[in-house]
Amino acid sequence: MNTKLPVLRHTVELRHAVQQWRRQGQKIALVPTMGGLHDGHLSLVRLAKQHANRVIVSVFVNPTQFAPHEDFDAYPRNEERDWHKLGTVEADAMYAPDVHEIYPRDFATRVDVAGVAQPLEGISRPHFFSGVATVVTKLFLQALPDVAVFGEKDYQQLLVVKKLVRDLNFPVTIVPGPIMREPDGLAMSSRNVYLDAQDRVTAPHLYGVLQDMAGDLAAGREMDETVKKGLARLEKHGFRVDYLEVRDAENLTPAVYPLWKPVRLLAAAYLGKVRLIDNMAVPSPGAH
Ligand code: PAF
Repeated sequence: MNTKLPVLRHTVELRHAVQQWRRQGQKIALVPTMGGLHDGHLSLVRLAKQHANRVIVSVFVNPTQFAPHEDFDAYPRNEERDWHKLGTVEADAMYAPDVHEIYPRDFATRVDVAGVAQPLEGISRPHFFSGVATVVTKLFLQALPDVAVFGEKDYQQLLVVKKLVRDLNFPVTIVPGPIMREPDGLAMSSRNVYLDAQDRVTAPHLYGVLQDMAGDLAAGREMDETVKKGLARLEKHGFRVDYLEVRDAENLTPAVYPLWKPVRLLAAAYLGKVRLIDNMAVPSPGAH
């Protein structure tokens, strides 16, 4: 265990560490997180280590991606626990800046990505991707990584970050990390701790329904019918569905039936007050 994992609070310290590593010819990876680390995050760190010599994990609960009614204050924070976990996977630095380091008092810039940021989460959480794009831009410019790893659990976020990188010519390679699931299929998420015992039992049905839908679509079932059936099943289990859609896997435009391009199932649904999101690739028809 790396008990000496340095905690960096300021951009100058971060830049200094990165500069030294780079002088030694080392490649740098960044794994941006909001803390509340679980095995899904740790898998991203392990993946980052395959692509770089040094891995920085940022831990910053970004206020600009939360709406006033959302869970910014309640978001799970435990820096010491996060630090210990990062030691077990031998990250090289934890960057845990104060909010003023990222957003000084007179901060006045926002980064907005259009297109892929607009549907789905963009409708339900209109402030969200602008907050993400702004903080990711800052983190990239502060850390100047060669590689950054983002989980496919937040599939739309991954596409938004890829677009940001392409549009603004960031010299950063984005590496997607596969969704990590609990043994019962529930996608790992920091927010899973909010689920009460009953809802925790119900939650994996989201995965089950997506799996069945992906199988049906791959077998050539009609798309609208498949979505209708999936919706009905989720509602029967007690989910309040925000969206359940089949979208083009590259740009998230609505999928066209019969499916001839790679598509992705994307879902957001509430159990009580907890909003779960999940997604799944649909194997190409015939590959089933
Ligand atoms: O996925 C997250 O944890 C956050 O949205 C990110 C990318 C760290 C930006 O705050």
